[in-house]
Amino acid sequence: MKTKSIKSIAVMTGGGDCPGLNAVIRAVTKTAINKYGLEVWGIEDGFLGLIEDRMHVLSYNEVSNILTAGGTILGSSNTANPSAHQIKVGKKVQTRDVSAQCIKALKGRNIDTLICIGGDGTMASAARFAKRGLTVMGVPKTIDNDLYGTDITFGFNTAVTTATEAIDKVHTTASSHHRVMIVEVMGRYAGWIALYAGVASGSDVILLPEMPYRIDKICEFVLGRSKRGKRFSIIVVAEGAREKGGKMVVAKKLAHSPDPIRLGGVANVLAEQIKEHTSLDCRAIVLGHIQRGGTPTPFDRTLATNFGYTAIELLMKGVRGHLVVMKDGKLSSIALSRVAGKIKTVPKNHHLIKAARAVGTSFGI
Ligand code: F6P
Repeated sequence: MKTKSIKSIAVMTGGGDCPGLNAVIRAVTKTAINKYGLEVWGIEDGFLGLIEDRMHVLSYNEVSNILTAGGTILGSSNTANPSAHQIKVGKKVQTRDVSAQCIKALKGRNIDTLICIGGDGTMASAARFAKRGLTVMGVPKTIDNDLYGTDITFGFNTAVTTATEAIDKVHTTASSHHRVMIVEVMGRYAGWIALYAGVASGSDVILLPEMPYRIDKICEFVLGRSKRGKRFSIIVVAEGAREKGGKMVVAKKLAHSPDPIRLGGVANVLAEQIKEHTSLDCRAIVLGHIQRGGTPTPFDRTLATNFGYTAIELLMKGVRGHLVVMKDGKLSSIALSRVAGKIKTVPKNHHLIKAARAVGTSFGI
């Protein structure tokens, strides 16, 4: 294969962590060293480490034995943004574009290539660096599976597995106590985790951000189950789901984050409403960050390894400013400029929604 010259590579993990990050770091570093004899630097704590000039050469040993480990050996940050970095000047906070300073820090170490492992926020910053002439390659990460341009992100399969196992456990206690159990899963503005974990666990009701629900329809459905002798119900709700005509439930707003809204709490709201309308005993369970932790599933380990390996192969072929993607079962890439600022939500005609409906699942509409 004819290869393009690359001096040295830096790799970073940005945004919320997820299972499989270490598997990508390992695949990128080992492929670069084994196949091309390249030096790989690890940037600490995502874009924050790049801004603060914190990075070190990754040794072969440092990336060995990390395939199965959750989290990221490099650390991450979901608040740092090189194009709008917040600095305290006296008592005031000023916003500055420190992108040029970041590129200088890389070039000072003879690094000409940056691999960004992250979600939509990280890819927006990666696209800006690519526009400034830096050689950049993105790798799609997020438990939410909401990254535009790829059919799947690594971390999603592990999150669905964790959520499904948790819902399976909720099932037995729901049945014993004849309760309506409402399990809230993550996913931001997309319902991928709720849809897949909901179907995999045989949940009775699945509520997605893409399909605003009606409380009367949910109550009618769970009461109908009670009348048929099914004295319990399991409802899986995505954190971004909302009532028709209503608003998403916001847990908090982070003042200094490029993506300040943190969703959360819809399960508690639903538990109160369903109790009021049906008199059934309801409980809310918020799975939270458990979905982001733990060892990646074999699926995510292999996907992450494939993504990391492909990132290096594409760079060596001369591909620049792209995101590695999985499309129709094949690895390829898409320009970062086409990804930035977009998210991938669940289409209303998704085959799994049709299958779920066919087996009697309600979407609360
Ligand atoms: O994007 C991943 C994710 O876990 C979302 O599902 C969730 O809404 C958000 O991050 C939580 O962010 P934080 O870790 O800042 O609370």
